[in-house]
Amino acid sequence: MSDAPFKNPGWAGNTGEFDLSEAEVRGDDFVGDRERAGAHPSTSATYPYMLAEKNPDVPLFEGEYHERFEKILTQYPTKQAALLPALGLAQEIRGYVSPESMDRVAELLELAPAYVRGVATFYTMYNKRPVGRHLVQVCTNISCNLCGADEVLAAFLRYTDTEMGETSDDGEFTVIEAECLAACGFPTCVQINSRYFENVTPADVPKIVERLKAESGEASGS
Ligand code: FES
Repeated sequence: MSDAPFKNPGWAGNTGEFDLSEAEVRGDDFVGDRERAGAHPSTSATYPYMLAEKNPDVPLFEGEYHERFEKILTQYPTKQAALLPALGLAQEIRGYVSPESMDRVAELLELAPAYVRGVATFYTMYNKRPVGRHLVQVCTNISCNLCGADEVLAAFLRYTDTEMGETSDDGEFTVIEAECLAACGFPTCVQINSRYFENVTPADVPKIVERLKAESGEASGS
């Protein structure tokens, strides 16, 4: 494995530009090792599993998040242009982008609330309602579908004991279908929070679910 510092590819904060460590940008409350050595390049570029404790009631952009927010603004010619990463940061803090979050972002960026809602509801990566700690997105688009994505999706629903789009009683899992995740060469692709799982078969699903549960337990110290 290279000792070179990992460059965060961006999203709601950019370590390269701001000379911040990944932990400073993403927090250090994740578990699991990043597979940088010997892994497929697509997995080496993904974030470690993010297990931040989302709190839908915390104020937006205060404390360390205020610093993050201000740094995001410095990357854009106008504050209005920072809408997408600002919404991303709001989701990172609260776990989803509620109408109240959208209004707060609109206020801070001096945008019309209707404009912000139009943008936030256009993109599927913004969760418009609370989701489980692990958001499991199974690609069922053509390449994955030809290789058994429907069975993978059914297995995730079965092993997480959820219905499509609903969150498990323990708040751990929400399973949804996703359109192409741009990993068509490795079907079935499943994105779980920020992490990609590739070449997933129904037989892999119990192991993945158990691994996620173990990581949750590890993160909460239980
Ligand atoms: S079709 Fe599944 S990743 Fe493209």
